[in-house]
Parts: sequence; structure tokens; C-alpha cells
Amino acid sequence: MIGIFALLAAATLPISQAQTRLLSDYNNRLNSYFDMKQQGITGNCIVQPRCSNEVSLIVKSLFTASILKPYRFVICSGGHTPYAGASNIENGVTIDLQYISAVNYDAKNSSVKVRPGATWDDSSVGVGGLTLGGGISYFSPEQGLISDNVLEFEVTSHPDLFMVLKRGNNNFGIVTSFQFRMFSYDGMWGGLVIYPETAIHAQFKALINFANNIEKNLKGAAIVMPVYQSAVGADLILNAYDYPEPVWRPAAYNEFVAIPGNISDTTGLRNVFPRTGAQGVMTKAHKIYLDVLAKLKAKVTGDWEIYVLYQPQPPSYWQKSLEGGGNVLGLERFNGQVLCLYQPYISWQGAEQDKLFQKAGADLIKPICDYAESIGADNPYLCLDYADNTQDPLKGYGEENVKKMKAAAKKYDPFGVFQNLVPGDFKISKVD
Ligand SMILES: *[C@@H]1O[C@H](CO)[C@@H](O)[C@H](O)[C@H]1NC(C)=O
Ligand SMILES: *[C@@H]1O[C@H](CO)[C@@H](O)[C@H](O)[C@H]1NC(C)=O
Repeated sequence: MIGIFALLAAATLPISQAQTRLLSDYNNRLNSYFDMKQQGITGNCIVQPRCSNEVSLIVKSLFTASILKPYRFVICSGGHTPYAGASNIENGVTIDLQYISAVNYDAKNSSVKVRPGATWDDSSVGVGGLTLGGGISYFSPEQGLISDNVLEFEVTSHPDLFMVLKRGNNNFGIVTSFQFRMFSYDGMWGGLVIYPETAIHAQFKALINFANNIEKNLKGAAIVMPVYQSAVGADLILNAYDYPEPVWRPAAYNEFVAIPGNISDTTGLRNVFPRTGAQGVMTKAHKIYLDVLAKLKAKVTGDWEIYVLYQPQPPSYWQKSLEGGGNVLGLERFNGQVLCLYQPYISWQGAEQDKLFQKAGADLIKPICDYAESIGADNPYLCLDYADNTQDPLKGYGEENVKKMKAAAKKYDPFGVFQNLVPGDFKISKVD
């Protein structure tokens, strides 16, 4: 890969200087991956284009070089995907978009152009990855998912590609700019409230009522999250609230606030940026979580943490997508059902414990899916931004949308560059 490395570096700097700088850039970039497993991958080279022309030069060069021997590559905006190989690659090239990160506000049509390497204000999450996967934000109940707020993608302007790019992930090309629509915002209320594990049933009840009432007031979001951190050593529930208006304890949260016994409460006014949730399924899921947790506590060594998120996604999250020309997620299929995102997140130390924790992860998902299916409360939709690489979120978009995406991939990428040379993340050609 020296060819491309030298090509881009030589264009701007004398080569020795370029090498020194690029080595420290390389290490900095590796250390900045959100997930430890991604940090451990040391690819052949990381290229850091500064503009869209360089991005296309890199892809063309890799494609040409691949005629003799495939050069695989990945695309990295913020590097936040939590599994190895999504945005970093062994024996390949990482196209790192961190320097293509300009944000330009356009007062005339009340929109903002954001380049993919920019990160969301209070995090290291990249604009490119989260937007192309769908993207839940503080504003989703009222404004929809992030991808539904995109007016224009720079990559091409074909209308059928516009639709598949919204949740189509990295299957169709590298997006070098997103034009987002704007909405006004003057502060928010929210924060974290911590409870002992014994409050879980009251929390689930409050969460379900909250989700069922969102349509009456398209603002707030709430997450209920059982948590165990070995460093703390207590079974806790973390509630996260956000309400995108500067209103002290909005009425929508009354049922949560009435639950007594919180251990800590950081809610307040702030200026940041500023599967079907039947209670039976949640109760069952929590029982399974407690079993898995007990087994882990008995066996694990070193520091570890486990979080299980329950986050309602009522229909208002995707109604915007129809107004904006639709996307390939096809949640309209579910006739206005209130869904609940369930997401276990586990971190641990030491490769010798990988098997144990990976099994725990599988044990947190499979029996719940089986149970939900047995009572007719399952749903094929998986949230791509949070899916594990053992899952198949694109299939959950439904047969018709899968067909559309396959057709778009064939039409706009006839040589299959983004299917064959870009192995990271979920590939539409692999969905059957
Ligand atoms: C908004 O305006 C800018 C500059 O005038 C233009 O480049 C852009 O295409 C416009 N976007 C939309 C979606 O109209
Ligand atoms: C948390 O507990 C404190 C002390 O009892 C109480 O004043 C506060 O209102 C509670 N907060 C929430 C969000 O329920």
C-alpha cells in the first residue's frame, strides 16, 4: 500500500516529515477507537484524505490495484462501532475521514452541511456512521431519526440512491457530505437517575406508559438500563431522560419521578450541544439478565461492566421518514406499533475471557427472542447502529427493501467494490 501512502503524503510534505507525522497520526488514530477490540487491529495503512476528490482518488486507486490482488478497505468517521473490523482492518487500508469534518451553516435555506468526520457535540460518535445507520438522537421523538433529517448526500444525486443511503450504511459508496435540515432548540431538561435493582418492575411499568403516551407530546425520551460495574459492585438501574425544551421535570416523567428511593439524581436544565415492549417480555428479559449476571459474577476476573438498555421507539421516530421521501428501514410495516430497543453492552478485560463474555452476550439475546416469538411479540427489526456483527440487521428491513438495496448496489457499484473490498459492517450482498 506504499503507493497510495506516498502519493497522498508527497503531495503536501517532504517525505521524511510526512513519515514522522503519519506515524504519530497512525498511533493517535488507533488509540481513538471507542472499542478496545478495534484498537488492537493494526492495518497496513491509514489514509487521511482532506477533501472528497482525495476520497475518490483513494477508492479508484484501491480498485485499480485490486485487479491483481484484492486490497480490502474500511471507512472510518468517528470509529465508534463496537466490534472489531467495522472501521479498522487487518491487512488492509483504513480510509479515515476525520479531517473531512467541516460544518457549514446555511441561513438561506435553514440547513447545515456537515462532513462525515465531524463528531456529535458531546461525544466521539462520528456523523458519517451514525447517520448512515439511522441514528437515534435527543430529538428523535419529534424530529425523527438522524438520517431522516438529511436533505442531500454528496456522493451522487440519484433519487433512488437517496432513499437507500438513509440506513443503507456503507453499502453504496463513501458519503463526503450531509446537508441536514435545521430546527430550533433553546435548551433541554434531562440527566441520569440511579435506583437500586429492586425498582425494576416499577421502572418497566413507567417506561411502557411513557412510550404509549409519547404520541401526545412528541418530545421526551427515556431509557431504563440495568447496570453492573465490578468497580462499584452493586446491582443498579440507570435511568436516562432527555426532553429538548428548557422545562423543569416535564409532566411526561411524573410516573418515573413518583418511584421512591433513587440513589443519585443529576437531572436538571442543561444546554448540551449545546422489539415490542410488552411488559412480559421485559420482565422475562430482566430475569434472564439476573441469571447471566450471577453466572458472570461467579466466574469473571478483572474489571468488567454490563449495561442493558430498554429504549422505547414509538412510531413518531420514523413518521418523519415518510415525509422526507422514505428510507429502506420500512418501519411503516409495523402499523404504528410502539417498539422497544433492547441492547446489552458488556465490556471486559483479557482475551482469555472472550468466550465467556461472548456466550453471556448470546445468552442475553437468544432466549429473549425465543420467548418473544413464542408469545407473538417479536419483531424482525434490529437497530443497525447498535447491532453486533453476529446479527443481520439489513435483513430486518424486510424483503422488499432488501431487493431495492441489492438493485441499487448492482446499479451504482457494478464491480462490487463496496461489497467485496469493504468487508467491515453489514453487507447487502450477504443478505439472503
Ligand atoms: C442550500 O443552499 C446551499 C447554498 O445556497 C446549496 O448548496 C444547497 O444545495 C441548498 N440545499 C438544499 C437542500 O436546498
Ligand atoms: C431523587 O431523590 C431525591 C431525594 O429523595 C428527591 O428529592 C428527587 O426528587 C428524586 N429525583 C427523581 C428524579 O425522582
